[in-house]
Amino acid sequence: MLEVVDLFCGAGGLSWGLQMGGLSVQAGIDLSPACIATYRRNLPGVEGVVGDLCSLKRQDILKFVTSPDNLVLAGCPPCRLFSQLHRRRKPLGEEFGAYLRLLWSLRPRYVVFENVPRIVDRGDAWGALTARLKRLGYFFSSEVVTADHFGVPQRRRRLVLVAARTPITIPDPPEANPRTVRDAIGHLPERDEAIPNHITMNLSSANQARMRLTARDGGRSKSPRVPFDDSYGRMEWDRPAPTITTRCVSFSNGRFGHPEYNRAITVREAAALQSFPENFIFEGGIKETARQVGNAVPPPLAKWLAQIILTHFHGGTETKQKPGRSEYRPAIPIAPPGFDVAGGEEGKRILSMQSPCAFGDKSHK
Ligand SMILES: C[S@@+](CC[C@H](N)C(=O)[O-])C[C@H]1O[C@@H](n2cnc3c(N)ncnc32)[C@H](O)[C@@H]1O
Repeated sequence: MLEVVDLFCGAGGLSWGLQMGGLSVQAGIDLSPACIATYRRNLPGVEGVVGDLCSLKRQDILKFVTSPDNLVLAGCPPCRLFSQLHRRRKPLGEEFGAYLRLLWSLRPRYVVFENVPRIVDRGDAWGALTARLKRLGYFFSSEVVTADHFGVPQRRRRLVLVAARTPITIPDPPEANPRTVRDAIGHLPERDEAIPNHITMNLSSANQARMRLTARDGGRSKSPRVPFDDSYGRMEWDRPAPTITTRCVSFSNGRFGHPEYNRAITVREAAALQSFPENFIFEGGIKETARQVGNAVPPPLAKWLAQIILTHFHGGTETKQKPGRSEYRPAIPIAPPGFDVAGGEEGKRILSMQSPCAFGDKSHK
C-alpha cells in the first residue's frame, strides 16, 4: 500500500485532495502550529506534526510509513522566489535545501511536488530538483496546469511534478470546466457570524470610499493614486476568480473586492474559491487563516495527482513514456543508515548547480 507523508503540509489542501483521490495519507509536517491545528481538525486519523523540516532527518519521516518503498513524498516547499514588487530574485531560503536533502536520503517510491510556475527560472530550485531526481534514477514528468480545468473557480496556474522509479507521464489535464465566482460564493450572505471563517478585514475610511466608488461586478478603482493595476478591484460574478493569494482578504492587495458587497472577500469565500467545502474549518485569526487558504493546493488538483500516482502504481496506461525517453537507470544505492548524504559536500554541490531548465518537456529522465 502507498503511504503519503506531506512535507510543508500547511492547512492540508494537498493532503486532503490526495486522500480524496484514494491515497492513504499518514502524516503532514509544518512549522506553523496554526496550520497543524487546521490540519488535525480536518484530517482526523492523520498525524499532524509541528516541526521544522530544516532540522528533521530521514528517520523522523520514515517512522510514519512501513517502508521507503511505500512512501509517496508529497511537498510544496515555500515559494517566495521573487519579490512581487520588484521582480528581484530572493534568496531561496533553507527550506528548499531541506526538501532536497530529505528527498535524497529517503528515496521514496513516488514524489509529488507543486509550486509556482516561475520556479523554473531558478536553477538553484528547479535545476537542483530535476538534477537530483535524475541523479537518483527517477523518471519524472512536470506540467503547468490551470486550476479551472479541475472545476476550481479560479485562474490559478501551478507547476506540478510527479516522479517514480519507472516511466511516468502526467496526462493531459481534463478539459476546462470553468466554474464561476457566483457558483462558489453566490449563496453566501454579506455577514453571518454563524458561518465558520466568514470573516472580513476592516476597511480604512479611504478604502471604504474607494470600495463605494468601484463598480459592482468586476469594477476597478478609478483613483489615480491607486499604485497597482490589479489592486482595489472587485471580482466578476460570472468568471473564475483571480489567483487567491495569502493576502486574499485585503482589498488593497489584489482584485479581492466582493463583486457586490462593500467589503473584500471573507476567508470562507476565499476557501470556497479554492474548492474547500464549508465544513473544512481553518484555525487562527483572519491573517493566519487567509495565509493558509492562499497557500493551499486546491484539493481537486491534488485529487487528480493522486489518481495519476495510483494509475501508475496499478500499471495503468499513464506509465507510457514518450519514445526515446523510456530508458531506465536504476536508482543509486541508498545511503547507510544515519548517513544523510546530501547534508555533506554532495548536497552543497547539487544545490549550487545551475542546471539547464528541463521545463516544457513533460517527461524527463
Ligand atoms: C505553500 S505552503 C504549503 C501548502 C500546503 N501544501 C497545502 O496544500 O495546504 C508552505 C508551508 O511551509 C511551511 N514552512 C515554512 N518553513 C518551514 C519549515 N522550515 N519547516 C516546516 N514547514 C515550513 C509554512 O508554514 C507553510 O504552511
